[in-house]
Amino acid sequence: MSAQAEQDPTAPDEVARALADALADIAAAGTLGELKAARVAHDGDRAPLALASAHIGALPGAERAEAGRRVGAARARLREALRARQAELEAERDRQVLLTETADVTLPGGRVLPGARHPVTMLADRLSDVFVAMGYEVAEGPEVEAEWYNFDALNIPPDHPAREMQDTLFIAGKNGTSASGIVLRTHTSPVQIRSMLTRPLPLYVVSPGKCFRNEALDATHSPVFHQIEGLAVDEGLTMADLRGAIQAFVEAMFGEGLRTRFRPDYFPFTEPSGDVAMECHVCRGASAEPGGDPCRVCKSQGWIEIAGCGMVNPRVLVACGIDPDRYTGFAFGLGIERGLMIAHGVTDIRDTMEGDVRFSRAFGTEI
Ligand code: PHE
Repeated sequence: MSAQAEQDPTAPDEVARALADALADIAAAGTLGELKAARVAHDGDRAPLALASAHIGALPGAERAEAGRRVGAARARLREALRARQAELEAERDRQVLLTETADVTLPGGRVLPGARHPVTMLADRLSDVFVAMGYEVAEGPEVEAEWYNFDALNIPPDHPAREMQDTLFIAGKNGTSASGIVLRTHTSPVQIRSMLTRPLPLYVVSPGKCFRNEALDATHSPVFHQIEGLAVDEGLTMADLRGAIQAFVEAMFGEGLRTRFRPDYFPFTEPSGDVAMECHVCRGASAEPGGDPCRVCKSQGWIEIAGCGMVNPRVLVACGIDPDRYTGFAFGLGIERGLMIAHGVTDIRDTMEGDVRFSRAFGTEI
């Protein structure tokens, strides 16, 4: 054979090798993409068998017919192999799609539940509304608070036990180590200070909000809880006004005609200070009478303590630039979770914060 004959792409060996290469690549193609690449390589315009086909015209006339049959047969086999592998891979793809996109129509539907307000939020709003109806404005303050607002301005001195690390969660500047530390507010009373410093007098505000104390979580204590605080500063306010405000709120929350009781207490920021108790809304005091049936809600005391209160300490007014000879004020504060628990007979404070919808549903929340 001449050197030219060896390079003849239509020669039986060349055609057989080109076909074998093609069939091997087609068989090895594991995806439709790989098969497409094999198709371009072996059946495209520059593929060996396509070049062989094009070469037939250049052969001596006598050889053309046989070469044509040989190359044609090879190309037919190649195309049949491509078609068959294409069908296999498409079937495989369809099978995978069926597997991965299967929908089990017997499964329960994925209903997206609408969000709903939490009972603690709803009660905070209801209490705020009671005071807004009496002309109070809602005032809010930051939960991360300067020690000065949370303590100093409220006449709570640096050595006061309430500042102790056990009670207060410090963010920075622990207990007197810097000019003013940063704390998670331990009560809503700093909002009193912020209100007095920024709002015009006379002043009537109610401040609901989240508070934090360094307490272990148990049935009656929580490190995070809510308070609502009321503050009034005006000319001529007396404890009678304070009593009236408390009475209005107790009746709005627990029912008409419930008596309230004030007893002396101590808060650095009010003077005089008191604690407010209300007549038990369940037994109406009967459990405390001789021979009365025991009451779980008031522990047969007849009274339930619900709030701290007092006349704003003149030192606090002065710290806020208010003339204590002209103005007086009263303030009160209570725990919202505690109020919720008393009103609805909840015995474990953890129920109010776990976000269990079974708890919320009992308050008429639709979820
Ligand atoms: N801030 C007090 C507390 O957290 C409650 C209070 C508020 C008492 C307003 C008096 C007046 O215990």
